[in-house]
Amino acid sequence: MQLRSSVLAQVFRMADSPTRVPYLDLKAQYRSIKPEIDAAIARVLDSSQFVLGSEVAAFEQEFAAYCGAAECIAVNSGTSALHLALLAAGVGPGDEVITVPFTFIASVAAITYAGARPVLVDIDPRSFTMDPAAVEAAITPRTKAILPVHLYGQTADMDSILEVARRHRLVVIEDAAQAHGAKYKRRMAGSIGDVACFSFYPAKNLGAYGEGGAVTTNNTEYARTIRMLRDWGQDRKYHHLLRGYNYRMEGFQGAILRVKLRHLEQWTEARRDVASKYNRMLADCEVQLPTEMPWARHVYHVYTLRARDRDGVQASLQAEGIQTAVHYAVPAHLQPAYADLGYSGGAFLQSEKAAREVLSLPIYPEMTDDQIHKVSQALTSIAAAR
Ligand SMILES: Cc1ncc(COP(=O)(O)O)c(C=O)c1O
Repeated sequence: MQLRSSVLAQVFRMADSPTRVPYLDLKAQYRSIKPEIDAAIARVLDSSQFVLGSEVAAFEQEFAAYCGAAECIAVNSGTSALHLALLAAGVGPGDEVITVPFTFIASVAAITYAGARPVLVDIDPRSFTMDPAAVEAAITPRTKAILPVHLYGQTADMDSILEVARRHRLVVIEDAAQAHGAKYKRRMAGSIGDVACFSFYPAKNLGAYGEGGAVTTNNTEYARTIRMLRDWGQDRKYHHLLRGYNYRMEGFQGAILRVKLRHLEQWTEARRDVASKYNRMLADCEVQLPTEMPWARHVYHVYTLRARDRDGVQASLQAEGIQTAVHYAVPAHLQPAYADLGYSGGAFLQSEKAAREVLSLPIYPEMTDDQIHKVSQALTSIAAAR
C-alpha cells in the first residue's frame, strides 16, 4: 500500500507540470465536478453519517442497478470485497481457487486471506485475461471457485469459463476491480459470474477519494452473509452471528461515488475515444496495440501495448516528459512473497512474456487531443529508432 501511495504522489506531482503528459490527472477530474463533490461532502458533514449510512446505502442501490445486479454491498477496498466474496462462496482452508498470475497481487492475496490455495493458470496473449483452455486441467477435487480477472478494463472470456465452472459445480467470482462499466456481450461486469468484486481506489475508472470497494451479486444468501461479515458479523447490533471484519465503507466515499457514478458512462466513452485515437495514430508504430475482443466493451482502465525493449522505450518517453506505467512487471508466481506456492520461471510463458513487454500509456477522460498527439508522436519516433 505504501508503494502504491508513493506512485500516486508521483502522479500528482507530474500532473502539476503543464509541459508534461501525466499518466493520469485526478485533479482535472475533480475540477470538472467540483460543485457536485463539494455539496456531497457537505451533506455527509451535515448528517454526520461517517460510516455506512444513507449515502452508502443509496450508492449500493445505484451501483447494483448500473451493473444489472440484484445486490451491492459496499466495503472499504477491492481486496476486502474479494476476501468476503470468497468467504460467502464457502472458500476456506483446504480449498483451491483458480486464478491468473498476470494480475494485481490482490487477486491472489485474497485467496490466501480466506485460507485457501491459489492455483494459477496462464493468460490468453491477446486479451491478457484467463485462458479458458487452461482451466480444466487445473481443476482438482479441492477446487471450489474460479476467479477470472477483467484485466485492464476488458472482461475475460466468461461464457467459456462459466461453462467449465457449471460442469464442475464451481463458483465463479469476477475480479472486476478494473472493469466498471465493461461488458461481456450484453452483460455488465458485475453481473456475469456468481459474485463480483470492484475496487474504488482513486485511480480506478470509478474512484473514491480514499479506499473503497464493493461486491455485487444476484445471490441473496451471499449478499446477506457479506453484509454481516463487513460489519463484524452482526445480524443486529452487538449480536455476532459470524466472525466478521471491520470492512465498512465510509460515508464520504459513498457520497462521492454517487456523484461520480452519474458521470461514469460519459467518462467511459471519453476513455474509449482516447483509445481509438491512439489506435489510429499508432497504427504504423513498431509496437503491438491492445486488442478489443469480439465479446467486449473495453473500458480502458489502462491502455496497454506491447513493446520490444519495453524498459528502454519507457525511459525514453519519461525523458520526454511522458509518464507511463507497467502493469505488471512481475507475475504473481514469481513474487518472493508467494514463492511457497511452488511455481518457478517458465511455468506461465504468456504471463511472463507479457510482464516483459507491456507498457501502459497515459489515459484519462480529460486527456486533450494535443496530449494524445504528443504521446503518439514521441512513441512512434522512439520505437522507430530501436
Ligand atoms: C485486478 C485487481 N484486483 C484487486 C484489486 C484490489 O483493490 P483495492 O486496491 O481497492 O484493495 C485491484 C486494485 O488495485 C486490482 O487492480
